[in-house]
Amino acid sequence: MPPPAASRLALLVRRLAFFVPAVVAGVPVPLPERAGPGAAAMEGVAAAGGRRRAVVVARVGPQPVRMPLAPSLKTLVLSGTNLTGTIPPQLGDLAALTELDVSKNQLTGAIPPELCRLAKLESLALNSNSLRGAIPDGIGNLTGLTHLTLYDNELSGPIPPGIGGLKNLQVLRAGGNPGMKGPVPAEIGGCSSLTMLGLAETGVSGSLPDTIGQLKKVETIAIYTTLLSGRIPESIGNCTALTSLYLYQNSLSGPIPASLGQLRKLQTLLLWQNQLVGAIPPELGQCKELTLIDLSLNSLTGPIPASLGELPNLQQLQLSTNQLTGAIPPELSNCTSLTDIEVDNNQLSGEIRIDFSRLRNLTLFYAWKNRLTGRVPAGLAECPGMQAVDLSYNNLTGSIPKELFGLQNLTKLLLLNNELSGLVPPEIGDCTSLYRLRLNGNRLSGTVPAEIGNLKSLNFLDMSDNHLVGPIPAAISGCASLQFLDLHSNALSGSLPDTLPRSLQLIDVSDNQLAPAR
Ligand SMILES: *[C@@H]1O[C@H](CO)[C@@H](O)[C@H](O)[C@H]1NC(C)=O
Ligand SMILES: *[C@@H]1O[C@H](CO)[C@@H](O)[C@H](O)[C@H]1NC(C)=O
Ligand SMILES: *[C@@H]1O[C@H](CO)[C@@H](O)[C@H](O)[C@H]1NC(C)=O
Ligand SMILES: *[C@@H]1O[C@H](CO)[C@@H](O)[C@H](O)[C@H]1NC(C)=O
Ligand SMILES: *[C@@H]1O[C@H](CO)[C@@H](O)[C@H](O)[C@H]1NC(C)=O
Ligand SMILES: *[C@@H]1O[C@H](CO)[C@@H](O)[C@H](O)[C@H]1NC(C)=O
Ligand SMILES: *[C@@H]1O[C@H](CO)[C@@H](O)[C@H](O)[C@H]1NC(C)=O
Repeated sequence: MPPPAASRLALLVRRLAFFVPAVVAGVPVPLPERAGPGAAAMEGVAAAGGRRRAVVVARVGPQPVRMPLAPSLKTLVLSGTNLTGTIPPQLGDLAALTELDVSKNQLTGAIPPELCRLAKLESLALNSNSLRGAIPDGIGNLTGLTHLTLYDNELSGPIPPGIGGLKNLQVLRAGGNPGMKGPVPAEIGGCSSLTMLGLAETGVSGSLPDTIGQLKKVETIAIYTTLLSGRIPESIGNCTALTSLYLYQNSLSGPIPASLGQLRKLQTLLLWQNQLVGAIPPELGQCKELTLIDLSLNSLTGPIPASLGELPNLQQLQLSTNQLTGAIPPELSNCTSLTDIEVDNNQLSGEIRIDFSRLRNLTLFYAWKNRLTGRVPAGLAECPGMQAVDLSYNNLTGSIPKELFGLQNLTKLLLLNNELSGLVPPEIGDCTSLYRLRLNGNRLSGTVPAEIGNLKSLNFLDMSDNHLVGPIPAAISGCASLQFLDLHSNALSGSLPDTLPRSLQLIDVSDNQLAPAR
């Protein structure tokens, strides 16, 4: 007669690793004292309360032995318990299991196909191990599954099409398995309960299937850093629950579908580093929840849509390294949540007409390497937290607005290779956070202001290739952090100051009219 269930079960808290690995490895070890006759009742509590913190482990008699032991076992949570070895196929005999979690261990070997016999399984967590081989085809038989997490293993092979039979599956996370190959199967559209689809950092290839649009509940699609190619299907506009779309670092081509405008809950749109072409769809202006747009490193053309100015929650707008034309839309002044604007490396032209006084949270404005004209906007000084401004390699004219140097947190001001003229304002000495200052390749005149000596944090100063005159101020010795000083190709005169910052590593004052060193 088999021992009653009460004596076959013991409840252990999850940290009892000294016991647990031995169980899974099938090696008998003594049970800790607290596993006693009361254990069955505790197992009842654990199951009834649906609590997953406790670890229920089966045993026969006083010695814990192999796993295929307690057919009544419902929950087996051995996450983060330093398990080694392979997953015992006998786990497939625990017919009552609803939750199996052996994540965050050092398990090796394949996922035993026997696990696909666990007809009551709702949650299967195998993530963060060193599992190899393919996802078993039979996974599609686990129709009760709501959560399947396989990420961060060494799995290979295709995603079994049978997965489409998992109508209750809410979370599928299989990313971080670089050897996983083949397409995202069209059958995925059958997973009608899916809220999270994670296949990032895998070798999945081919296009996203049109059936993706059937995922009406999906909130997050994370398929980045893969071999995905082809177009983003228009049908994605049917995924109206989507909040986060991460498709960056793929080989996606074709245009960004205008249907994205139907995604009224979309907050994060990351499509950077693909081969996307065509215009940025103005329809994105309808996605009022958008906080982060990154379309950098594509081949997008046409203007930055003015409709982006209708995104009150937009914090980061990253459009670097495309072929965008037209002006930076002044409508962006309405995006009062903006912290970052990065539109560098495009073909943008015209004047910068943003009303920066409305962008109180802006900390970073990069528009370098465009064809911008007009002046450096003095309004930038009205963004109190501004940290970095880079407007280099444009065709900006006029003088450097002295107001900029009132920015207490400005560390980086790069205005090189423009057509700026006038004096270097003495107010520069107020901008004590400055770390990197490059004004080279302009038409600046007058002297190097002595106030520069106040800049104790300044590390890199380049004013080369201008029309500066007069001596190098002795006060420059006050720049106690200065490592790089480039003043070459000006019309500086006098001799080098007797003291230079001791931190200096590189100095270039060539092509001036300095007196020979004494
Ligand atoms: C797992 O092993 C590490 C390193 O030996 C140890 O620090 C940690 O406490 C162990 N974790 C458990 C749950 O036993
Ligand atoms: C799935 O279940 C069916 C019916 O129970 C069975 O015939 C089939 O072999 C199972 N498939 C796999 C791959 O285990
Ligand atoms: C899904 O998207 C496609 C393309 O945008 C559209 O033609 C179709 O009507 C949509 N289907 C549903 C059910 O919304
Ligand atoms: C900002 O939005 C208002 C309406 O919301 C609009 O009238 C105005 O033109 C917009 N401003 C800019 C600079 O686009
Ligand atoms: C600006 O930032 C602060 C602090 O992070 C935040 O509380 C505030 O809501 C932001 N303002 C806007 C308009 O987003
Ligand atoms: C400047 O930076 C400091 C330190 O990070 C921060 O506490 C402060 O709020 C910033 N000032 C402004 C005006 O944002
Ligand atoms: C704009 O600047 C680039 C170099 O940054 C220069 O080659 C080009 O001639 C300038 N264009 C005009 C119209 O000044």
